[in-house]
Amino acid sequence: MTVKVTQLRPFGEAAIAEAARLIAAGEPVAVPTETVYGLAADATSGEAVARIYEAKGRPSFNPLIVHVPDLATAEQIGDFSLAARMLALVHWPGPITLVVPLRPDAHIASLVTAGLSTIALRVPAHPAMQALLHASGKPLAAPSANESGRISPTRAEHVLASLNGRIPLIIDGGPTERGIESTIIAANGDELRLLRPGPIEVPEALPSSGGVQAPGMLASHYAPFKPVRLNALERHDDEVLIGFGRYPGDITLSSTGNLVEAAANLFSALHDADAQPGRGIAVAPIPEEGLGIAINDRLRRAAAARD
Ligand code: TXA
Ligand code: MG
Repeated sequence: MTVKVTQLRPFGEAAIAEAARLIAAGEPVAVPTETVYGLAADATSGEAVARIYEAKGRPSFNPLIVHVPDLATAEQIGDFSLAARMLALVHWPGPITLVVPLRPDAHIASLVTAGLSTIALRVPAHPAMQALLHASGKPLAAPSANESGRISPTRAEHVLASLNGRIPLIIDGGPTERGIESTIIAANGDELRLLRPGPIEVPEALPSSGGVQAPGMLASHYAPFKPVRLNALERHDDEVLIGFGRYPGDITLSSTGNLVEAAANLFSALHDADAQPGRGIAVAPIPEEGLGIAINDRLRRAAAARD
């Protein structure tokens, strides 16, 4: 990752115009919401989303929350049951996130959902995030704007202390009102489950169902059906090879060995390899550095899920 000069600009028209320009160029930008500061990028671009992970130095991929300006836009991306729509009508804009089935025509990068068929959506109330959503015209994926493993930022100075030199712009909107991340509710038809407690209580939501999980495998990740073999230098019989750099493969994560591109392509490559003929998936070696750490973490989970 190249070192960047991080600008800190007060929320206003000029800062939003600059942020929208950076979003269009595929860069992540820190922006306040009513909960915590988010690190926002164009959710329709896998490479833009990969740069969020790169800036955070996050060693694993998690599905991210996508921010949209209103319920009508949310309904172009996810399928809302009656119960989900009722919650949205009561609480949006506001600090609640709804996990709903992803629409096949949503054009959301697969890195955003970590390959899942559901998506977390939120209409934020903060004027800065609202202004950026309108100016960019894009759904914005945004986790908290902190270095991985550090606490969530509620002031622009927290973001600067954590991500200085890693992102181009922080919009300073003062301290955030709520200070904790949004409540997350999964709406599976009309059944509501609490996935993360937060500022809004939803009395009708059931507690999250832990459930039995395969070892080393988060339930909230796409798992390939086929067995996965790592660090493959060549294809064995009846395998689909996912290549990288000088190992071409049947599908490549990045023919030039670019880790941002590889992260962007990871989940769609796993889906494609699963859908092709062949009984197993082999994956070429990925360097254990930068975004390669998160890619390898995900691949190891995919391989371990079979044991
Ligand atoms: O307040 C907030 O929600 C902040 C601000 C910036 O909006 N954002 C935030 O985003 O906390 P993030 O990406 O850090 O939170 C993502 C959470 C994770 O716990 C993830 O597992 C869950 O949402 N999540 C996202 N998509 C999901 C899905 N399809 N199914 C289940 N959980 C999901
Ligand atoms: Mg976070």
